Amino acid sequence: MSYKVLIIGCGRVAVKHLKAISGLKSLELAAVVDTNEGSAKKLLASVKGFGSVKIYSDYKTAIEEVKPDITAVTVPSGLHYQIASFAMEHGSNLLLEKPMTMSSDQSKEIYDISKRTGMKIAMGHIYRYLPIVGLVRDDINNGKFGKVTHGSIYVRWGHGEDYYSSAAWRGTWKSDGGAMMNQTIHAIDLLVWLMGSEPAQAQAMLAQRLRNIEAEDLGMAILRLENGALASVEGTTSTLESRHEAEFSVFCENGSVTMGLSCGKPHINIVEKRPDGKVKKLNGYYIRKQFKEGGIFSYKCALNPHLGIYKDLSDSLDEGRQPLADAYAGYSSVDTLMGIYRSALLGEPVKLPLDEDFSSEKMTGFFENR
Ligand SMILES: NC(=O)c1ccc[n+]([C@@H]2O[C@H](COP(=O)([O-])OP(=O)(O)OC[C@H]3O[C@@H](n4cnc5c(N)ncnc54)[C@H](O)[C@@H]3O)[C@@H](O)[C@H]2O)c1
Repeated sequence: MSYKVLIIGCGRVAVKHLKAISGLKSLELAAVVDTNEGSAKKLLASVKGFGSVKIYSDYKTAIEEVKPDITAVTVPSGLHYQIASFAMEHGSNLLLEKPMTMSSDQSKEIYDISKRTGMKIAMGHIYRYLPIVGLVRDDINNGKFGKVTHGSIYVRWGHGEDYYSSAAWRGTWKSDGGAMMNQTIHAIDLLVWLMGSEPAQAQAMLAQRLRNIEAEDLGMAILRLENGALASVEGTTSTLESRHEAEFSVFCENGSVTMGLSCGKPHINIVEKRPDGKVKKLNGYYIRKQFKEGGIFSYKCALNPHLGIYKDLSDSLDEGRQPLADAYAGYSSVDTLMGIYRSALLGEPVKLPLDEDFSSEKMTGFFENR
């Protein structure tokens, strides 16, 4: 099948969307929307072949006229809720950027609308689409490595003042949140997904170390999962901009998995303790297996994980199944993030899922009031 795509929001991340769409025969870009016409023109000029695509300035008119099969929501995070709900109520599936919304109740509502309308949501949770992670997730969950004891993740994604001053919404409690909400939410989603259990409790601290923003530029949290395993999370934008690095580890009774990226270079360390007591490295085994299987976790997708997300969404529409990073993943990760923020605010552990609404806007004044 061929699917009509509408992109709403023509900024930084939209370029990755456009490149992914141009790489898939099953997708056709029908139109783009931006309140700033110059941004829309710049986006369309960034990839060959899109010069004559129609530009709208109002998302409602665009959705009503274009009737897209897929709406890509790539506007500032504070606008996700209103655009995602309008698009689904008008019969469009979504590729919705992370975070799903800025509050736990709004995310639950988006998840519920998706279930009620049957519209699928593929979340922009890029880490789930990296090579090998899907294979190790299957093996962790089918018990190959034994009982999961704990996991950890760090996202040290340095961004300077120029990044934060490039758009007024960045680093604000209402429309973005800080390093945990923007840069780390999809890594938290990945770790929880790999560990195969839902978050039951969060305890967190936030700090402002270097960046001149409203929200945190450093956050640390511990999650307790329903199966009793613990997960530690570090997310920051206060490290060097020239040294972006992120890594996850999952530790199990009979082995461990560590994968990450440092300055664009991937690293991997997967080991298993055999019944004879010897510890064997499995890096080569997983690399070969992934190379053979290809698909949405292929090495081509590693260069632009949005290619994997679009391919998966398009296949999920053909096959009548949910995408890999689905509406539930979007809701659950926002609920966990709101638990992290609430725990930092209260200075005590918080039970998950949250039993009342919490939004990042409720963090307004957090650093000023300490
Ligand atoms: N998954 C990922 O890897 C990833 C990476 C970067 C950003 N993101 C997410 O993507 C979203 C956008 O981030 P960005 O860095 O591209 O932001 P950006 O500020 O660069 O771009 C946002 C664009 O939306 C436009 N816009 C604002 N209001 C609009 C409206 N009402 N209607 C139409 N257009 C409107 C702006 O003019 C701008 O061009 C955020 O939610 C962010 O968290 C995801």
